[in-house]
Amino acid sequence: MSDLKVEDFCPFCCPSHNGGSTPIPTTGKTIFYTSSQQDKMAKMEVKTSLLDDMIGVGDMVLLEPLNEDSFINNLKKRFDHNEVYTYIGSVVISINPYRSLPIYTPEKVEEYRNRNFYELSPHIFALSDEAYRSLRDQDKDQCILITGESGAGKTEASKLVMSYVAAVCGKGAEVNQVKEQLLQSNPVLEAFGNAKTVRNDNSSRFGKYMDIEFDFKGDPLGGVISNYLLEKSRVVKQPRGERNFHIFYQILSGASEEFLCKLKLERDFSRYNYLGLDSARVNGVDDASNFRTVRNAMQIVGFMDHETQSVFEVVAAVLKLGNIEFKPESRANGLDESKIKDKNELKEICELTGIDQSVLERAFSFRTVEAKQEKVSTTLNVAQAYYARDALAKNLYSRLFSWLVTRINESIKAQTKVRKKVMGVLDIYGFEIFEDNSFEQFIINYCNEKLQQIFIELTLKEEQEEYIREGIEWTHIEYFNNAIICDLIENNQTGILAMLDEECLRPGTVTDETFLEKLNQVCATHQHFESRMSKCSRFLNDTSLPHSCFRIQHYAGKVMYQVEGFVDKNNDLLYRDLSQAMWKANHSLIKALFPEGNPAKINLKRPPTAGSQFKASVATLMKNLQTKNPNYIRCIKPNDKKAAHIFNEALVCHQIRYLGLLENVRVRRAGYAFRQPYEPCLERYKMLCKQTWPHWRGPARAGVEVLFNELGIPEEEFSFGRSKIFIRNPRTLFKLEDLRKQRLEDLATLIEKIYRGWKCRTRFLLMKKCQVVIASWYRRYSQQKKYQKIKSSAITVQSYIRGWKARKVLRELKHLKRCNEAATVIAAYWHGTQARRELKRLKEEARRKHAVAVIWAFWLGLKVRREYRKYFRANAGRKIYEFTLQRLMQKYFLEMKNKMPSLSPIDKNWPARPYLFLDSTHKELKRIFHLWRCKKYRDQFTDQQKLIYEEKLEASELFKDKKALYPASVGQPFQGAYLEISENPKYKKLKDAVDEKIIIAEVVNKINRANGKAASRIFLLTKNNVLLADQKSGTIKSEVPLGDVTKVSMSSQNDGFFAVHLKEGSEAASKGDFLLSSDHLIEMATKLYRTTLSQTKQKLNIEISDEFLVQFKQDKVCVKFIQGSQKNGNIPTCKRKNNRLLEVAVP
Ligand SMILES: Nc1ncnc2c1ncn2[C@@H]1O[C@H](COP(=O)(O)OP(=O)(O)OP(=O)(O)O)[C@@H](O)[C@H]1O
Ligand SMILES: [Mg+2]
Repeated sequence: MSDLKVEDFCPFCCPSHNGGSTPIPTTGKTIFYTSSQQDKMAKMEVKTSLLDDMIGVGDMVLLEPLNEDSFINNLKKRFDHNEVYTYIGSVVISINPYRSLPIYTPEKVEEYRNRNFYELSPHIFALSDEAYRSLRDQDKDQCILITGESGAGKTEASKLVMSYVAAVCGKGAEVNQVKEQLLQSNPVLEAFGNAKTVRNDNSSRFGKYMDIEFDFKGDPLGGVISNYLLEKSRVVKQPRGERNFHIFYQILSGASEEFLCKLKLERDFSRYNYLGLDSARVNGVDDASNFRTVRNAMQIVGFMDHETQSVFEVVAAVLKLGNIEFKPESRANGLDESKIKDKNELKEICELTGIDQSVLERAFSFRTVEAKQEKVSTTLNVAQAYYARDALAKNLYSRLFSWLVTRINESIKAQTKVRKKVMGVLDIYGFEIFEDNSFEQFIINYCNEKLQQIFIELTLKEEQEEYIREGIEWTHIEYFNNAIICDLIENNQTGILAMLDEECLRPGTVTDETFLEKLNQVCATHQHFESRMSKCSRFLNDTSLPHSCFRIQHYAGKVMYQVEGFVDKNNDLLYRDLSQAMWKANHSLIKALFPEGNPAKINLKRPPTAGSQFKASVATLMKNLQTKNPNYIRCIKPNDKKAAHIFNEALVCHQIRYLGLLENVRVRRAGYAFRQPYEPCLERYKMLCKQTWPHWRGPARAGVEVLFNELGIPEEEFSFGRSKIFIRNPRTLFKLEDLRKQRLEDLATLIEKIYRGWKCRTRFLLMKKCQVVIASWYRRYSQQKKYQKIKSSAITVQSYIRGWKARKVLRELKHLKRCNEAATVIAAYWHGTQARRELKRLKEEARRKHAVAVIWAFWLGLKVRREYRKYFRANAGRKIYEFTLQRLMQKYFLEMKNKMPSLSPIDKNWPARPYLFLDSTHKELKRIFHLWRCKKYRDQFTDQQKLIYEEKLEASELFKDKKALYPASVGQPFQGAYLEISENPKYKKLKDAVDEKIIIAEVVNKINRANGKAASRIFLLTKNNVLLADQKSGTIKSEVPLGDVTKVSMSSQNDGFFAVHLKEGSEAASKGDFLLSSDHLIEMATKLYRTTLSQTKQKLNIEISDEFLVQFKQDKVCVKFIQGSQKNGNIPTCKRKNNRLLEVAVP
């Protein structure tokens, strides 16, 4: 089972060919093209007629000679060369290759797309394209009639047609979905309606007619599927070597364990009585993967999950029904009864379908007959129970199948109400002859008879009509018309189906035998009916014909039908109890499948028999087909082995005969073997005549007439129709073709010649053009260069001239400027001269005036003095002088009074001197004023302050500019008693020992003369003594009268060291001089000096030097002050260097 999709279009392509395209034979010479051009042209060059490179004869109408052998040989030759399609006019003969051929690739689709039917070699795509274009462009509804016996390839052909149409029609998301749904309906229906038979591994067990609907643009809108009588007997029983419907095997192989468990199924086929075991597996068929394909297809078509689930539940229920077995049981009233052997299976079915177990059990045991409001219930014996079981299984399955078709139709139906164009594809079960043929084969073969009938009618009618339409004379051809066989079956009075219905509806005992008897009576004389017991004695001795059989001579051969089961199958009865039980099921799908089970809708009328139903639907189908433009695909089976490469001539011959293909050719050829509209004919052969080549301006028909006259074709060989030329003999056509081929070669040479000339000329022209272009470019370039040179020279000359001009102007301007400046300078000098002259004159004038005034004043003075001399004393001048001087002095002092500086002794301001002659006075005045204000300042002091200032003055005289420590001491007040000896009880002892007034009480460091280390001592200065006491205890360590202190030595630096030198020989001097250090050195030295002076009236010698000698006992040690060492920060350190040297490091 092939699963066709729009995308992966080719169902038969072997992988190696997928995507590739068949090499295209080329005609004509391709001598002077480059290889890439050749490739390109080879791709573009396709066959222009089926006559090109033909294997055998592509159209049987052209076959010469025409007889059965040549016909078969031609088919065989083509078959051997993988040419499986051959035409008879517009009919396609398709031979099943039984293998994948690379002729269905997308490239092939493109090749055949929009091409005329005879343009390319025969192909099913050509027919599909013709039908589709005629539907789209000419608005003609089409039908594709695919006929042939079982296994001949009808179903595959129908799928190819659908796929081709899907590939070439419009595209777009919506359209693609419609296409996909239409194509995906196939796998679903094939799974449920196809089965393996001895003739075909994927045999269609139902008839299918699908109307694909298109809009005015040729885009598919949707479709409608009609199904015809499913061979439901297969559900319960299959002939040897055959299988049940695919779906049963697919479900068991492909469903997951979980799903199987849900459906209460087991994977093992042998568990189910309804599955024929001898050929459960089919070579090359993967049921498991097909199951996945089916589920996927159901999803694409639009089945809901719960619907799919319900469908598989029904399938499972059917399968399980076959496992219900009955055993006989006798009742007391002697009636046979049956009983279910093992109720387990029944229970599971009921669980699966939601049917009450007791209801189903009762339906298998009783049969209720209702007649005129009376209900009679009878028990079922074992055989009847089995019959009921199988009937239920068959009905369930066939109704499920019909439901599937309805459901698919719901999904794929066109959504719009606009007018639609329709293309019908008929794929119906093929003609069948089995060993045992029953009612189903009878129905199937009847259907095929009808199709053959329509083929004959339409083909001949069409042919005949064409001749009439074209105004051509038509000669009648003999052919076998199977209308007589159709009549034997379907005649309303005497037809076999009518007999069967009559028998089924007749009261009384009706059996298959009574039916046969009836046939024997009614049809005995019919040419195509054969029976041993017929009134006609023709077959009395025919032992090959059993008594329980009748034989019909179908168009495709004789078929012997077993009469057994005809009545039952035609009745197709299902006990009402069963349909009611089904209706009661708690399963929406099963309930919907058995609407007649609803007690409210009981219909006592008998349903129409299967035969009459089928007859009616076939009649509707035929009517439908007749309204459409038919396109035929006649499928032929090359062998019975389902094998590739085998061409069984006898089998093919048989099919050719019964399909009436030879007659078909003859009919086609009786009039004219070949016909073609004038335009394509003229287009193809116009090169054979000078008048028509290369262009014919007039009507195409006139062109063809001129052409044929020119070629000298005898008049009896062709006829002019209204729109087509009809050629009687194929030889004429071949002659035309030969001439054309020859002419094409000549034309090729001509084209080659012209092409070469054209190419050389083109090249020459190109080169010439190039030369002109290059020359023009070069000229342009050189002129440009020249121009640029001239331009730059011009610019240079221009710039020089401009420069020269500019300089000239500049020069003139400069000259002008200089002239202006010179004029200005001259003017300035002139004005200056004038001004000076004027000034001089004015000065002169002023001097003169002054001189005049002075002279005048002197003169006046002189005059006055002369005048008044007698009145003045002789020293009046002196008095005037003194008076003037006094006036000036007075003025000076008065001014000074106002300008006096402040009274601060440090104010340095002093008014400037007004007159030079007062210089010394002014300085003196300043000195006096300063002294005066100092006095004023001093007068404010108390005695205490006076003393302090005296001391400070003393210190200044002693140390100013001598000792670096001095400036820091100026701001420090001299306190003297730094230690409160009298107040502090600690020093009570010391206070008691000193009864004099203490001038200084201070802690000093006494330097150890041996090692230079310091020890704290209290230094006391009294009126008469210097004392050193222990700091802690206050014990007096040394007491030196001031008269014994001879000298105090200290450094000039910033340290507090000082040595107190004692008088040699004095008592205190026994230990030697003191070397001390104090923070108030200046104060101490000053006070020591003043106290010594006041006591001894002698000035204490104070030596300031960085190196001095100190007496230690008998030795003199030099104390040397050096600067720089800063080991102890800012504190001076003292170190004994040797016996003679004590070094004091001062920071
Ligand atoms: N064009 C083809 N190319 C390759 N294989 C083909 C082709 N046509 C048919 N077959 C093979 O032949 C088998 C039978 O073909 P198909 O089912 O179409 O026969 P059918 O005429 O429909 O038979 P039935 O009447 O029993 O349904 C296919 O399963 C496929 O393997
Ligand atoms: Mg088929």
